[in-house]
Amino acid sequence: MNFNDELNLRTKEAETIISGYLPEADGFCRTLPEAMTYALLAGGKRLRPVLMKAVFDMLGGEGREVEPFMAGIEMIHTHSLIHDDLPAIDNDDYRRGRLTTHKVYGEAMGVLSGDALLNYAYETMLKAFDLTGSSTQVIKALRLMSEKTGIKGMLGGQSVDVQNNGIAQDEQMLEYIYRKKTSALIEASMGTGAVLAGADDETVRLVEKAASLIGMAFQIRDDILDVEGDEKTLGKPVHSDDKNHKITYVTLYGLEGAGSEVRRFSDEACGIIRTLAKDSSDEKRVRGCSFLLSLTEYLTTRDR
Ligand code: IPE
Ligand code: IPE
Ligand code: MG
Ligand code: MG
Ligand code: MG
Repeated sequence: MNFNDELNLRTKEAETIISGYLPEADGFCRTLPEAMTYALLAGGKRLRPVLMKAVFDMLGGEGREVEPFMAGIEMIHTHSLIHDDLPAIDNDDYRRGRLTTHKVYGEAMGVLSGDALLNYAYETMLKAFDLTGSSTQVIKALRLMSEKTGIKGMLGGQSVDVQNNGIAQDEQMLEYIYRKKTSALIEASMGTGAVLAGADDETVRLVEKAASLIGMAFQIRDDILDVEGDEKTLGKPVHSDDKNHKITYVTLYGLEGAGSEVRRFSDEACGIIRTLAKDSSDEKRVRGCSFLLSLTEYLTTRDR
């Protein structure tokens, strides 16, 4: 199977799993789950659950306990997007090709649906206990997920990012922001895939390192697309960074320099990934590894 077909297949698989864990409308509380579902089903790339499953396959994972985690990471990611678009943060009106949640449901419901998705992600991931033979692995995965999402991860990064409006940043500070606001959720995705596959601590550490590099490349490519991307293809506004007076890799190094950084981070990630299935002859593992390499490469030139 070629890469595009496999990506489509794996994306569809993630979509189906997410659809199986949607929140239900109940009694008076109908608008909140409706707003959550609106944001979740708007049609993102589903990159994080796809990465999680590819790592799970590459490291010999077998059970279904990865599924609530695939849905959970997409809920956490979607919560971060709803809040990122709020007037108090980036103030953007379009996301995933349609109006942002706060534009459709109002700002109060935007705040609440983001909060609710973060909470519901954990309600969902806790269901993994009913599907697993190893509670210890599920506990470990939950710990990793919560740490990468919180103060020391995505939310911490977003907090430093909002202070990065119009203020001259040096390279170290900018890299810190990207490692947290974007890499942390990619680390959570791939790290969880490794933990649930039963990987040892050293392997999990290597997977997280590769994930962090993929996240850096991903965010710098996002900066480039914010300047030269096509709004329709992206499904979100271009020039949002300029509007918010953000310092980015593009403002620091120019488009070409930022492009070289994408290449550098991505190549380093591939170097690590190549080592992870090198001793295996298992077909599923080898395929997971080669898919992950192709995906990492594809992300360097993505246009959405
Ligand atoms: C957008 O993430 C936020 C960033 C970290 C740049 P994605 O580009 O993965 O967004 P969706 O899920 O496809 O909408
Ligand atoms: C967002 O960074 C990272 C998040 C944690 C949401 P951006 O603000 O650049 O993401 P987009 O461009 O709005 O998707
Ligand atoms: Mg932002
Ligand atoms: Mg934004
Ligand atoms: Mg952006």
